[in-house]
Amino acid sequence: MNLIANWSYPTAIRFGAGRISEIVDACNAAGIKKPLLVTDKGLADMVITQSTLDLLAAGGLGRAMFADVDPNPTELNVEAGLQVYRDGGHDGVVAFGGGSGLDLGKCLAFMAGQTRPLWDFEDIDDWWTRADADAIAPIVAVPTTAGTGSEVGRASVITNSVTHQKKIIFHPKFLPSIVICDPELTVGMPSFITAGTGMDAFAHCLEAFCSPHYHPMSQGMALEGMRLVKENLPKAFADGTDIEARAHMMAAAAMGATAFQKGLGAIHAMSHPLGAVHNTHHGTTNAVVMLEVLKFNRPAVEGKLVQAANYLGIDGGFDGFFDFAASLINDLGIPKNLTELGVKNPDIEALTQEALKDPSTGGNPIEMTYDNTKALFEACI
Ligand SMILES: [Fe+2]
Repeated sequence: MNLIANWSYPTAIRFGAGRISEIVDACNAAGIKKPLLVTDKGLADMVITQSTLDLLAAGGLGRAMFADVDPNPTELNVEAGLQVYRDGGHDGVVAFGGGSGLDLGKCLAFMAGQTRPLWDFEDIDDWWTRADADAIAPIVAVPTTAGTGSEVGRASVITNSVTHQKKIIFHPKFLPSIVICDPELTVGMPSFITAGTGMDAFAHCLEAFCSPHYHPMSQGMALEGMRLVKENLPKAFADGTDIEARAHMMAAAAMGATAFQKGLGAIHAMSHPLGAVHNTHHGTTNAVVMLEVLKFNRPAVEGKLVQAANYLGIDGGFDGFFDFAASLINDLGIPKNLTELGVKNPDIEALTQEALKDPSTGGNPIEMTYDNTKALFEACI
């Protein structure tokens, strides 16, 4: 099967194994002459990162990297990165990595020419119009995991280091101008990260599919995204070098993140404060709370998930879909509950309050209230 293509929706995507070799051409096309490659600490010394820097250097674009990025990037990472970006006289960003590297890279390109503080651009009402759009630097995004889909997203999640709240910073121009989706970059991912990130992609598709908002394009994409995860995540988990499975998972990740402009829901509303306070892995946390959220949403989503089950080739309607999700989570070795995930002495009251403030809350098919959200957290402990 030929898994190489150029897509222009939702942005220019160069998809296929080996296409990281086009990084210099992508920077040229985006108008970047002196890129700063932004990634996380864990990736900084890895071969995929160093060889990408080698390609940039050989193409005359320098070899600059900023990797002081925490797993849940904070405004302190943004400030440190901006210093490096400005001191180095850079004119664009190569955002490289999983969610943290991509989100911080995008945020640096956005903030590079702004004069107002970061929190002025939180995703509230039309706050994004406060930004000087012409001052946003170009972004080339290169995902190295298959889950977040941040490479096709118009926002970054940045954690406030003082309040431990995850904030969404939004602007339409956060959308990278060029994305290189090269599944070979994901081959070295440890299996638990393959599992967690893959379940993030699945959660994006599932929540977008179940969200009540009208967006038929996203609905179709979410459905096919779920099918790609069902067929390929177990293969990529069992054999990390299965490049075809890795490619399909990379496509599913980009599809999930494109689809969730239709809305997310309780899985993400709960996962965001859990990650911000307890530093849990985002995708893995989604998987841990997923089954309780499915049970909670059942009255509103039963019909839709019967359709999904039919398309995915699952017998038994809603129950069949639920059992499929449960065995996928089990087979991937995901912790059974939040306690097993490492959440110690959670402040359920505070988590509930934060979940209700999360923008994902509005996309849940059943209205989230203090009582039912608290009960959801309790059920996941
Ligand atoms: Fe997510």
